Amino acid sequence: MKAVLCTKYGSPEVLLLKEVEKPTPGDNEVLIKIFATAVTASDIFIRSSDIPLQFRIPMRIMLGITKPRNPIIGLVLAGEIESIGKNVKRFKTGDQVYGLTGLGMGAYAEYKCMKETDSMHGCLAIKPGNITYEEATVAAYGGLLAFQYMEKGNIQPGQNVLIYGASGTSGTMAIQFAKFLGAKVTAVCSTSNLDLVKSLGADSVIDYTKVDVIDSGAQYDFILDAVGKIKTSKLKVACKNALATVGKYVSIDDGNLLLDSNRLAFVKELIEAGHIKPVIDKCYKFEDIVEAHRYVGKGHKKGGVVIKIR
Ligand SMILES: NC(=O)c1ccc[n+]([C@@H]2O[C@H](COP(=O)([O-])OP(=O)(O)OC[C@H]3O[C@@H](n4cnc5c(N)ncnc54)[C@H](OP(=O)(O)O)[C@@H]3O)[C@@H](O)[C@H]2O)c1
Repeated sequence: MKAVLCTKYGSPEVLLLKEVEKPTPGDNEVLIKIFATAVTASDIFIRSSDIPLQFRIPMRIMLGITKPRNPIIGLVLAGEIESIGKNVKRFKTGDQVYGLTGLGMGAYAEYKCMKETDSMHGCLAIKPGNITYEEATVAAYGGLLAFQYMEKGNIQPGQNVLIYGASGTSGTMAIQFAKFLGAKVTAVCSTSNLDLVKSLGADSVIDYTKVDVIDSGAQYDFILDAVGKIKTSKLKVACKNALATVGKYVSIDDGNLLLDSNRLAFVKELIEAGHIKPVIDKCYKFEDIVEAHRYVGKGHKKGGVVIKIR
């Protein structure tokens, strides 16, 4: 099968498309024929290892000291179950699935074996029936990230919610989830994304390239920082200061992403009911994955960036 190998940490050019052996599922595994994967913010961190020292050391202990232990990286997949091991109960051949591969990585390939149960090595669920495999990769990564951190807000109808970093993979999902919960949503992004976030339901928008103070009267019940802790600004500080006394501020970097197939099943329900639609920025061919990494590495994707494998 074809797979993209990352044989050392470095620039996008370390990624090489190669022919490798097709995996065979164990008794508790399913073999997924991958139709689409995604290039996520996490893939960029893993490939480049270009992150602050305090995160880099634990990350390398987990993933590999001088190079990724599994040379096939990639965290997100959507595809079809081609075969199953004899103990598998949750899935059957032909099921269309989507999920994350976690520490197991391996989604930059034509096939991947995964356990049917959730673990640090991934979670898998039936894909929403009304979206493409490409859209499903955005829903899996953005949905898991956004929903995990939004749930911490216990958002009630009518509450004021601010999403900082609203135009990225998790931000675009977070806006729609907050609207589904009945919140009034303020979205923060740069000028070229204002129309996008409005189209997803944002009631008001703030352009972080033009504004670095906000009305001190604005009281937010919940703020999701969907950009992460590394990227900060005067405006982000101003947003924090506009939190209501009993409001909650949550960064998407607070803790680890939980690989939870129940949450994926919930994302599926909301998508099938028409409450949420994944946003795709660009879709690349498998052989153009280096270009996709260059683009995502700039940090300004709108929704998700997808790789079509077949
Ligand atoms: N906790 C965990 O386990 C975990 C796991 C995975 C990822 N994460 C975190 O999740 C973050 C978000 O992932 P994602 O894929 O949703 O991100 P993304 O798609 O890359 O989105 C980035 C967002 O940040 C905005 N942005 C970029 N530079 C900015 C700046 N200087 N000031 C304000 N906004 C800026 C972009 O808006 P414009 O394009 O409009 O500038 C865009 O809305 C990652 O960076 C990572 O920190 C956490």
